[in-house]
Amino acid sequence: MKHTLIIAGLLATLAGCARNAEAVATPAVLSIQELMASVVDPAADSLWDSVGTTISTGGTQDRAPRTDKEWRQVRHYAVALVEAPNLLVMKGRPMAVPGGKLDDADVPGIESAAHVQAAIAKDPAAFALKAKALQDAGLSALKAIDARNPAGLLAAGGQIDTACESCHLKYWYPNAPRPPES
Ligand code: HEC
Repeated sequence: MKHTLIIAGLLATLAGCARNAEAVATPAVLSIQELMASVVDPAADSLWDSVGTTISTGGTQDRAPRTDKEWRQVRHYAVALVEAPNLLVMKGRPMAVPGGKLDDADVPGIESAAHVQAAIAKDPAAFALKAKALQDAGLSALKAIDARNPAGLLAAGGQIDTACESCHLKYWYPNAPRPPES
């Protein structure tokens, strides 16, 4: 009798585990818009800010990571840009929160969230190629960072910019007379 109870208890525990595993297997998925605003855009901005030349009345000032800490910091941004494309191409990721509007929705030529979503669903491989271009640019940045190479990082920054623009032009504002500043 005692054993039966123990076994019953064990089975109940196992069933509980299975349920927990199921819960873990279906993680929450946010929108592409949220990934852009919260992960991709801040990481790219910080990476771009870390290297370059500022020309002002005070003269020319070159910026680049110098200390180990600064290089480690900019590496975080590059890692985000390498990994974010894997998240962008995840199946079932919505473009925006239900009923949500895309940024610059009032600008002529900006597509609706539903339209962009449909364009991606129609040819996921084409979207994945654009995401891969960003990932490759992120990898170039990572390589330059690991080599402590400011010129390489600057070049990778340009490659990242091209990757952003190329995807936005195809999906977000393919018909805009002039790309919005973003
Ligand atoms: C693979 C495609 C793709 C790439 C690469 C990409 N984006 Fe986007 N991005 C989109 C799409 C689609 C939208 C429109 C949906 C939206 O408004 O978020 C968007 C929107 C945005 C927005 C507006 C977010 C908002 O609040 O509505 C920002 C900012 C942005 N992207 C920044 C960037 C930057 C910076 C990069 C490059 C580092 C980049 N994106 C690379 C597809 C991409």
